[in-house]
Amino acid sequence: APHPEILPVGAGDRDAIDAALKLLDAGRCVVVPTETVYGLAADATNGEAAASIFEAKGRPSFNPLICHVASMAMAARHAEVDPVAHKLMTAFWPGPLTIVLDLAASSEIHPLVTAGLMTVGLRMPRGGLRELAERLGRPLAAPSANRSGGVSPTTAEHAARSLGSRVPLILDAGRTEVGVESTIVRVAGDHVVLLRPGGITRDELREAVGLPIVDAGEGGAITAPGQLSSHYAPFGSVRLDAAHVEPGEWLISFGRSKIEGRDHAAGEINLSPAGDLREAAANLFGALSSLDRPDVKAIAVASVPRTGLGEAINDRLRRAAAPR
Ligand code: TXA
Ligand code: MG
Repeated sequence: APHPEILPVGAGDRDAIDAALKLLDAGRCVVVPTETVYGLAADATNGEAAASIFEAKGRPSFNPLICHVASMAMAARHAEVDPVAHKLMTAFWPGPLTIVLDLAASSEIHPLVTAGLMTVGLRMPRGGLRELAERLGRPLAAPSANRSGGVSPTTAEHAARSLGSRVPLILDAGRTEVGVESTIVRVAGDHVVLLRPGGITRDELREAVGLPIVDAGEGGAITAPGQLSSHYAPFGSVRLDAAHVEPGEWLISFGRSKIEGRDHAAGEINLSPAGDLREAAANLFGALSSLDRPDVKAIAVASVPRTGLGEAINDRLRRAAAPR
């Protein structure tokens, strides 16, 4: 199969953005970096373009896609922005926060993108994806640029390995900065529902809005429909909160955690030798992806603190370890 074209983006690399824009305008999808993970982007107002995302990912179509906007004005054209949502946008955009909002009556976002819901998840990313939404003048739908259920890519090479010739073009901006996906929230009157932990922490959210941050399910009806429990699964089995290593297992460690039998591990990847959660988040998917191969039959993962970004890291690890 032919390989996708991989073009560097950055200061001076205008050709890559121009090539991507041309494909997006023609209803094709393109892999584009954001500060969280690489996204598989397409025009959110074009049904066929959206369909090509589901096709390339092999994703169940009931799972709605996040739409990426270039500005608050673009957000307001497609969704009803209440005062709390506005506060969140001001505090965290551009950045790793997705806000689920009621669709505006005039929105042209295609129902395939929202999976037919009356709501839409909007975020303003940092990086090339924002620039492309700006130049296209329309929101870009973009899930992570991996086959459905696989590990989210934090490098262009990883996206190429997962999607291969299913995409015509990959923009390469090197390794992503945050490394886990955006936090997803829904404002519900006097509280904020946390639908998916991610790059913005619970404490940062609470501080910005001064309202209780409630878990999905606790608050009632609101859920994130796409939050399948098994996700990010590498080839081998994943065992969490490991205090020892079984013979033949690989070890994913964190900080200076004491692990018994570390010497007979098949290999070890430390997410952050210094015990820094930001560094660990940035390294997480790269570690899972490098161990996603047939000769790695079992992975033991040392415990990672659950505070701050640790909430998102533990969420992704739980999904990687979930029964398939
Ligand atoms: O960091 C990220 O968020 C990355 C980059 C590319 O921006 N994108 C990403 O998209 O993680 P994806 O498709 O892997 O995750 C989207 C999730 C869905 O699984 C779904 O749970 C939630 O967003 N979602 C989207 N629209 C929603 C809606 N209207 N209501 C509730 N949840 C929604
Ligand atoms: Mg994903």
